[in-house]
Amino acid sequence: MSSGTENIVWHEAAVKKDSRRKKNGHGSFILWFTGLSASGKSSVANKLAHSLFESGKQAVVLDGDNIRHGLNSDLGFIEGDRKENIRRIGEVSKLFIESGQIVITAFISPYRGDRGLVRELVEPDEFIEVHVKCSLEECEKRDPKGLYRKARRNEITNFTGISAPYEEPLNPEIVLDTEKDSIGLCVEKILKELKQKRLI
Ligand code: ADX
Repeated sequence: MSSGTENIVWHEAAVKKDSRRKKNGHGSFILWFTGLSASGKSSVANKLAHSLFESGKQAVVLDGDNIRHGLNSDLGFIEGDRKENIRRIGEVSKLFIESGQIVITAFISPYRGDRGLVRELVEPDEFIEVHVKCSLEECEKRDPKGLYRKARRNEITNFTGISAPYEEPLNPEIVLDTEKDSIGLCVEKILKELKQKRLI
């Protein structure tokens, strides 16, 4: 049985990334949100996508909880599965970049190495790491899905922050403090940054 790309030849796209960007009137790139469960990744990601959409921009949200129902429903939460989760999302995000979209990903993505691999997968200016910062204490207080409570009772294993690690980004492009700032303010902060970088 053969595997890999040995007998597969790359087919160039007839419509190039740059043409799509020109037509859309904005850049295409990944806003890679990383942070603990309940830190606010999905809430900020969706409000941001809505705001971009309302101003006529092409944006898509890839969210851990949703993607794990479909594309990645075969993966769990041991280290190797999380790595594969992030690898696949990186590849999917790259396809969306090619199609001219602003990709907003909301995954815990706890390992620096995994996030680093996605950064390397795309062009240097196509990966913007957003640390959605919130203390474990506050996330545990919020506990919207009751998962921290279950993790404390050992009803869930390998739970990030409790029984599995979270490696904070060392040099993220953007840091959001959801303990202090409202979701709206976090969205404003990202939009300002994107305008400054002339990406939108
Ligand atoms: S990641 O670590 O592989 O990036 P991902 O963002 O896809 O995680 O999924 C995290 C979501 O799955 C959490 O928000 C939570 O709702 C749920 N979940 C279920 N089990 C776990 C677990 N052991 N650790 C973290 N999140 C879990």
